[in-house]
Amino acid sequence: MSQAPSRTVVVLAAGEGKRMRSATPKVLQPLLGRTLLGHVLAVASAINTDRTVVVVGHKADEVGAFLAEAAPQATPVLQAEQNGTGHAVRIALDASPDLTGTVVVLSGDVPLLRPETVEALLATHERAGAAATVLSAEVAEPGGLGRIVRGADGNLQRIVEQKDASAEERRIREINSGIYAFDAVLLREALGKLSTDNAQGEEYLTDVFAILASQGHPVAIEVAEFAFETLGCNDRAELSRLRVLMRDRVNEGWMRSGVLLLDPATTWIDVTATLEPDAVVDQNSQILGSSSVARGAVVGPDTTLIDTVVAEGATVLRTHSIGAVVGPSATVGPFSFLRPGTRLARQSKIGGFVEAKNAELGEGAKVPHLTYVGDATIGARANIGAGTIFANYDGVKKSHTTVGEAAFVGSDTVLIAPVEVGPGAYVAAGSAIAKDVPAGSLGVTRAQQRNVEGWTARKRPGTVSAAAAEAANITPEQD
Ligand code: UD1
Ligand code: CA
Repeated sequence: MSQAPSRTVVVLAAGEGKRMRSATPKVLQPLLGRTLLGHVLAVASAINTDRTVVVVGHKADEVGAFLAEAAPQATPVLQAEQNGTGHAVRIALDASPDLTGTVVVLSGDVPLLRPETVEALLATHERAGAAATVLSAEVAEPGGLGRIVRGADGNLQRIVEQKDASAEERRIREINSGIYAFDAVLLREALGKLSTDNAQGEEYLTDVFAILASQGHPVAIEVAEFAFETLGCNDRAELSRLRVLMRDRVNEGWMRSGVLLLDPATTWIDVTATLEPDAVVDQNSQILGSSSVARGAVVGPDTTLIDTVVAEGATVLRTHSIGAVVGPSATVGPFSFLRPGTRLARQSKIGGFVEAKNAELGEGAKVPHLTYVGDATIGARANIGAGTIFANYDGVKKSHTTVGEAAFVGSDTVLIAPVEVGPGAYVAAGSAIAKDVPAGSLGVTRAQQRNVEGWTARKRPGTVSAAAAEAANITPEQD
């Protein structure tokens, strides 16, 4: 029985990324829902590999902890000193002494790369029966990147680093993306021959190409269809450019699948979020983390959803939401704050200036205005008046409040937890409720009102209020 040749991915992620000027290693910088390295690992897992090895070095503990959590199938290999890309791959291969088949090398800081592009590289590599194949790209400004030096026949002669290149070579616009496919056995041999006799005193992985070519092994080039996919990033300005490119690509994908984005330039959707056809996202909105927006739902403008589920036909307007579930045809906002554990059933409503945390609203329940709902269960069709506070914290512990089905809580009420307002019960406006209100009862804690007649005229003479009172109290003369 013949086995398909094995594929191993080696991701280079040991570099420091000094120019980021960050306490966070470059490969752990976030970009639309994943770290840079997370995007590269997603490519690795999409291309059907037998093994993924990640070369770590700078802040190896932190990068290792990320891998253990986000990609436990990947094997970290430590490159204690970063002596160059060739050195990094050599260490990766040393950790797998019996490796054969194809080795794909990816860079931990090239997050826009798509699996399709790596597949195209592998197809070219296999078709050419190549010992090594490089993914190149034509760019307007090659900057400090390595250049692809082709012979008169168009074949690859060598890859030269900017710092080692002649003036003529520096004019070459075809750059080395740092993404390659190699025959594992020939790669290992060639890595053993690398020198550090170059401008940076490093072992260059790129030198493997000239070594293999001079030995008569075929080496190949795959030119990337979209050069921007091969972009890495060295500082935060470059990272922000990648973020815009990724945003546009993500948004385009959702629009083609039927989502209506009213202003894609101000809409930021993490790669981990999902939207259904006929979902609508209005301007200045962010759909982040594991958020999902179902068909017919309208999100925005000016809304941030983090790990929030928005069901079919729901509306979320000018709202910040973390870890909430907005049920079918429910409405939220404007200017509200949904915190973890908020769950709105079908057609329920959270209106303006409401903060909710760990709060369940039953079907058709309403919290329309200026309310804090913490640790509460609100029954179907119950109505919570403007300015109600669910006082869930006594300074020591949090407690729960239950409002029954179709109960009515008057405005400016404090419900002091733990407390229960029964089904169909009423609470008079302005009450402070600390004892349960049984089903169908009225709870009221207000003092009786008394009016002191003529008070303004006596105590505030000469004020505009006194004048208004006097005018209002004149009995019209009869004809
Ligand atoms: C390398 C290529 C260059 C190419 C460029 C594309 C070499 C010699 N040069 O440039 O031709 O145009 O990538 O971005 O390979 N890394 C390690 N260990 C090391 C050094 C680097 O893991 O000792 C990792 C870095 O973390 C990074 C990747 O390898 O993820 C590339 O390293 P970087 O220093 O950015 O690339 P260059 O050497 O500048
Ligand atoms: Ca470098």
